[in-house]
Amino acid sequence: MRIFSGIQPTGRKHLGNFIGAIRQYVDGQARAVEADGLAIFCIVDLHAVTVAYDPVELRELTYDTAALLIAAGLDPARCILFRQSDVAEQTELCWLLASVTAHGDLNRMHQFKEKSEVQRELISAGLFFYPVLQAADVLAYRCDEVPVGEDQRQHIELMRDIAERFNARFADSNELLIAPQHRIPEVGARIMDLQDPDSKMSTTAAAQDGTVYVLDQPEMIQRKFNRAVTDSDDPPRIAVDPQKRGVSNLLEILAACEGVTPEEAAAELSGARGYGDLKAAVSEAVIEMLTPVRERYELLRGDEAALEQVLLRGADQARAIAAVTLGEVRSAMGVGPVT
Ligand code: TRP
Repeated sequence: MRIFSGIQPTGRKHLGNFIGAIRQYVDGQARAVEADGLAIFCIVDLHAVTVAYDPVELRELTYDTAALLIAAGLDPARCILFRQSDVAEQTELCWLLASVTAHGDLNRMHQFKEKSEVQRELISAGLFFYPVLQAADVLAYRCDEVPVGEDQRQHIELMRDIAERFNARFADSNELLIAPQHRIPEVGARIMDLQDPDSKMSTTAAAQDGTVYVLDQPEMIQRKFNRAVTDSDDPPRIAVDPQKRGVSNLLEILAACEGVTPEEAAAELSGARGYGDLKAAVSEAVIEMLTPVRERYELLRGDEAALEQVLLRGADQARAIAAVTLGEVRSAMGVGPVT
């Protein structure tokens, strides 16, 4: 079993990122170690340059992200953690895979449409090409599993198509590149904004109080949950119900923290007097989950030299794998000398 995922070094990571992605990585690492497989995690700085960004900040955000991932439980001794730009093999593979990528497919990508709509100055060709680099990220390592959020479904389907088209066109077997499966978490894949439970939790939300950040102080977390939107059912009803978006979201968060289903979380609160009890229970569970992460982050983030060493060592390990795949792809495509 081989797992790969990529994470953007952008913005502050919020509870939705933590539950929907980062925790899946830690779980993937454990499963990979257990199965004698490999878990590979990549901080995708080259994807970050496809939209407007600040170069000095990008480097800071890359360290922030590395420190956060380690604080959350990724252990560089048990997984490969590296920075995308350190492994040039991935970028070269991106170009080679472009030859089996349909322009029309890239044109259909939701994320391209959404991101290009909000660009003020330039819609870069890089933004259009982004999914090809993402395909190269995963295919370079011949991974079978990609833990990602629901929003990445289309990108994973595209990389499967690219792998299959490549194998059909250039390889004798179906195995030169491996079409990976996505793995989308059942609970917590869609954490909604606390102030606007019809929208996903995000860093760009209108209301500041709707987004809980991984590095928020406990008092701040408590305040945000206290102010969370519920509903005016009288008597209050703590239940999972599509009509009750706010309450269902709080139950989803509680369930994700406790490792139970949202229905089980609701059953635990059957003696509650009202939504105040639900909010208190969620806020306590979230604080308990995030406090050790924040404390470890603060220690790790202070030592950039150590973080840099972790990333460079990870890149060496990653490159050793990617170089083999790239060599076979070049050879199958008739690129470069006979090897
Ligand atoms: N596009 C992904 C996101 O926005 C990040 C990413 C880049 C990724 N390369 C990847 C995810 C490879 C999974 C596999 O979240």
